Amino acid sequence: MTKTIHAAITGVGHYAPAKVLTNADLEKMVDTSDEWIRTRTGIRERRIAANDEMTSDMGVAAARAALAQAKLDPADVEAIYVATCTPDMIFPSTACLIQAALGAKRAYGFDISSACAGFIMALDTAAAAVESGRVRNALVIGAEKLSVVTDWTSRDTCVLFGDGAGAVVLQPSPRPGLRSSLLGVDGNQAEILYIPAGGCKQPSSEETVRAHRHAIHMSGRETFKIAVNTMQEAAQEAIARAGLTADQIDCMIPHQANYRIVDAVAKRLGPNVMDKVFLNLDRYGNTSAASIPIALSEAVAAGKVKSGDKILMVAFGGGLSWGGAVVEWL
Ligand SMILES: CC(C)(COP(=O)(O)OP(=O)(O)OC[C@H]1O[C@@H](n2cnc3c(N)ncnc32)[C@H](O)[C@@H]1OP(=O)(O)O)[C@@H](O)C(=O)NCCC(=O)NCCS
Repeated sequence: MTKTIHAAITGVGHYAPAKVLTNADLEKMVDTSDEWIRTRTGIRERRIAANDEMTSDMGVAAARAALAQAKLDPADVEAIYVATCTPDMIFPSTACLIQAALGAKRAYGFDISSACAGFIMALDTAAAAVESGRVRNALVIGAEKLSVVTDWTSRDTCVLFGDGAGAVVLQPSPRPGLRSSLLGVDGNQAEILYIPAGGCKQPSSEETVRAHRHAIHMSGRETFKIAVNTMQEAAQEAIARAGLTADQIDCMIPHQANYRIVDAVAKRLGPNVMDKVFLNLDRYGNTSAASIPIALSEAVAAGKVKSGDKILMVAFGGGLSWGGAVVEWL
């Protein structure tokens, strides 16, 4: 189908909480070492939100930065899509809380629960609304407070995650913005990466709290292997649907979970792709749905993205769920 209205990113911003938790700090909390964490993951430190700092607060800060870059008044925002697996509460949605805090009085909004693939799911959803002409000014936010669903006694997982938020403004454009996207889920392997309790299957109880069942549980090795294969396939399909080849990608912004996953995916895509990857996981760890918009925001601020560049985004996470997208920068 030939599109007449395209959806383009016209502003991007991010927010990172002030508190830094280093690998040296983690050495004092669990039986681990800076060397183990760096060589297995590439992570050196991560940000931790304050007790009174919620996912919605971080989302608002990132959204304000993106709106300022797009020169868009919050009152003109028509839709707010928030990708998060750590909402402030079960309902109302984080999108509602962000709408109120921004004063986006004409906007509707909802949350998208797709773990680390959430931002690409939200971007695709928002782009469809903009391309159809139903929405002109959309905010797409990835925001997470993973520190509250981290088992700080488990070295298998607590070294991996961090908090933060990123946001983009999506608006109609005569030129291609989102050139392609590809989304997928496979619920058959839901339990290799999940938070077991807190829903109706295992409602909160003293027992679920004692057993840390409100925290992220993960089969690390299995997740690693599936992540590499799935991200490679999603990236290749997104590039093909954009009518491009891997060597025509100018910048790759992958979900920032693990350096070794990113390196393996990039090498499979082509010989020089790793040189085009923007990474900041050494400073933030895995911030789930927030990782891609935070990295995009930093890449733009660092001058790594220029007009006309083709940016490949690719993510994988709990669900299992995944997404790939190619965006042409305005
Ligand atoms: C978690 C991960 C870093 C572990 O790396 P790995 O090379 O697979 O390590 P293994 O699982 O083989 O564990 C090796 C050993 O290190 C130990 N270990 C685990 N975490 C440790 C830590 N923080 N510090 C020190 N040792 C640790 C394990 O207990 C294991 O010990 P054992 O051999 O005595 O049993 C890796 O599997 C990974 O990144 N998986 C994907 C995670 C991810 O990205 N999830 C989110 C996707 S969105």
